[in-house]
Amino acid sequence: MKRLFLLLALLVSVNLHAQKFDGLADAPQMGWNSWNSFACDINEKLIRDTADTIVRLGLKDAGYQYVNIDDCWHGKRDKDGFIHPDPERFPSGMKALADYVHGKGLKLGIYSDAGATTCGGKPGSRGHEYQDAKTYAEWGIDYVKYDWCDTKGLSAQGAYTTMRDAIRAAGRPMLFSMCEWGENKPWEWAKDVGHSWRTSADIYPCWNCELNHDAFSRLGVLRILDRQAGLRKYAGPGHWNDMDMLEVGMGMTADEDRAHFSIWAMMASPLILGNDLRKMPESTLRILSNKDVIAINQDKAGIQAWKFFDDGRLEYWAKPLANNEWAVMVLNRGEQVVSTNYDWKAHFVSDEVSKREVDFKKATYAWHDIWGGKSGDTSAKLDAKVAPHSVLLLRLKTKG
Ligand code: GLA
Repeated sequence: MKRLFLLLALLVSVNLHAQKFDGLADAPQMGWNSWNSFACDINEKLIRDTADTIVRLGLKDAGYQYVNIDDCWHGKRDKDGFIHPDPERFPSGMKALADYVHGKGLKLGIYSDAGATTCGGKPGSRGHEYQDAKTYAEWGIDYVKYDWCDTKGLSAQGAYTTMRDAIRAAGRPMLFSMCEWGENKPWEWAKDVGHSWRTSADIYPCWNCELNHDAFSRLGVLRILDRQAGLRKYAGPGHWNDMDMLEVGMGMTADEDRAHFSIWAMMASPLILGNDLRKMPESTLRILSNKDVIAINQDKAGIQAWKFFDDGRLEYWAKPLANNEWAVMVLNRGEQVVSTNYDWKAHFVSDEVSKREVDFKKATYAWHDIWGGKSGDTSAKLDAKVAPHSVLLLRLKTKG
């Protein structure tokens, strides 16, 4: 009897550990990450100032809640194997920094790697997973981004599951953001492992370029979009396709920035800002805090968009929203202004994944043009000009 009880207790505890924390990413996570702007040049003042700025500029109210420290915060492991932050860059320690960030009503994220060393050559978590997760929990960390450098010979599923279990065992809810660049098809096995998984190599702030063309090439906005083909059926509340951190405000044109932000919103990707918020022009802030675009990303139905029509010059993408609403994005990849004369009634829009459909012959929807401010309805053809490298982003509601 006693043995049976012990066995049952063991099974229950194993089962408890073998879960990720629920409810941390019912909508795609929103926040900021240090990597795109600062790479290894980070310190605690930057993190504190960024947290202050997120609150001061209204970005917290817009939904951005995580302040994420990427690679290179690390100092050394001590003789017992515990990791410590770099004493020069983070002299007050991570607990104090987490307290500060929490005091602003925000959450703190940290970065590690499944291998022995991170991509920046710092100590990774291999062989220290439980110890590191416990340390992060004691510091008050809320988010762990887990990278994939130096992992030759490791099973991705095994390594990410181990860290998931370590986080669970540490007992503090921490969002688990998997960053293995889509190399091992995480969408096929990571639904119960991570809250999001990267689907591609790193982003680069350009519309359609590919930098380097080697194993580590960095990808422009359209290149990353094209890597999402076939993946939407794997995404949903709690488990998202991560198209990488945003490059809005990092040198693209205003049209490209708006399109980039709209695409990430439509694709239900996490929205993690990558620019230097302390030096952001008003025009960039307006893009990043557009509440209508954010609402499309954060929509409760949690359905990733798909391309339902392509006329060779413009692409038409749809995202079914809660309450029978829809978002429609018209994308101009090209170099010329393109006029659309899109006939809503000529297209029956039907989604195999969500089973949502709409027949504009039977129902008229009112649309609102989010960036342009215009309104209209689907009883008439859509008469608009779409600038090069830009999108038209519409929100549709039934007219009854
Ligand atoms: C990888 C990741 C990036 C960033 C760097 C840090 O390239 O994909 O997002 O975390 O490592 O070294």
